[in-house]
Amino acid sequence: MNANKIQIFDTTLRDGEQVPGCKLDTKQKLIIAERLDMLGVDIIEAGFPVSSPGDFTSVNEISKLVKRATVCGLTRAVEKDIKVAAEALKYAKKPRIHTGIGTSASHIKYKFKSTEEKVIERAKNAVSYAKKFVEDVEFYAEDAGRTDNEFLAKICEEAIKSGATVLNIPDTTGYCLPEEYGAKINYLKENVKGIDDIILSCHCHNDLGLATANSIAGAINGARQIECTINGIGERAGNTALEEVVMILKQHPYLNLQTDINTKLLYDTSLMVREKMGMPVQPNKAIVGANAFAHSSGIHQDGVIKNRETYEIINPIEVGVTESAIVLTARSGRAALAYRAKKIGYELTKIQLDKAYLTFLQFADKQKEVIDEDIHLIMKKVSKISKIAIA
Ligand code: KIV
Ligand code: ZN
Repeated sequence: MNANKIQIFDTTLRDGEQVPGCKLDTKQKLIIAERLDMLGVDIIEAGFPVSSPGDFTSVNEISKLVKRATVCGLTRAVEKDIKVAAEALKYAKKPRIHTGIGTSASHIKYKFKSTEEKVIERAKNAVSYAKKFVEDVEFYAEDAGRTDNEFLAKICEEAIKSGATVLNIPDTTGYCLPEEYGAKINYLKENVKGIDDIILSCHCHNDLGLATANSIAGAINGARQIECTINGIGERAGNTALEEVVMILKQHPYLNLQTDINTKLLYDTSLMVREKMGMPVQPNKAIVGANAFAHSSGIHQDGVIKNRETYEIINPIEVGVTESAIVLTARSGRAALAYRAKKIGYELTKIQLDKAYLTFLQFADKQKEVIDEDIHLIMKKVSKISKIAIA
């Protein structure tokens, strides 16, 4: 296997779907799972089978449908959860059970009212039990972001000894700074026996807007799996956005970390998830937001019209967006007006453009955006500028 490949673990259908309002039925989940498989994700976390009969059915049906990716089911460190997950995954070509337990001092004290020793025992038992059903067992140390590194190393080592193939180090509360999260991964790399035989995974939440940065810091420090969701949806402020980590790795080839994602499907997949989950994406969202490739200030528009690379680090075609947009507002200049006018059939001389621009500014000062219909009116007003054939 390529040592620099980053496995993309998509949890849109589990961590993403648990968001209020994002609930999907089995049919909708199957459509998204099929698309994720096409997109090239390595692992699809299809759900939490013990949580409801509907989720069990979804994981079961996704297991039958998915041809290429590993299909994963979430469990707590509870035998019944694991047994039910194994049953739900029984038709999967490549099944994985994702089991684990909270490891931070606050989870141990308040959630479990337990001790470190007892939590380690539960972790070992859960992994060993899951191993009876599937070869591929991922262990998560919930709230690893706030877990003492020494204890985290200890429980990770026990999980490996019990048979874990992947260790997930979630920053469950989105607390860590990138340096801190990267150092945590590095600490585990250096202090856990057997760590080189398993895959370390980043699962970062976005409470401080650092989920993507933390996941990249984890990968730079040796993690080889990133857990993420389409559009970054997920519990509270969300998870790491799949499209962001994938494009960061692609745009920074010197990191020498690759994914198998077909980036040209990113935008369409984002639209599909918005539509099925009824969860819109903010216009300024990186990579897939409506404004991600839209230019509105005169200085930027002039640059982009001359050469796209002056203000764009990604060619929109690379992520499935047909072209950059030149949006006309009161901050736009003559170059942008001439460009948009030409697109709808008007070739302007310099004098015509000067005249049209004055009328354009009157429109633009009154409204948020000047659209094609307005340009037709402007041309009529400034007169007699006749329409040419659209190239
Ligand atoms: O954020 C988290 O810790 C999780 C685990 C269940 C993996 O989603
Ligand atoms: Zn999570």
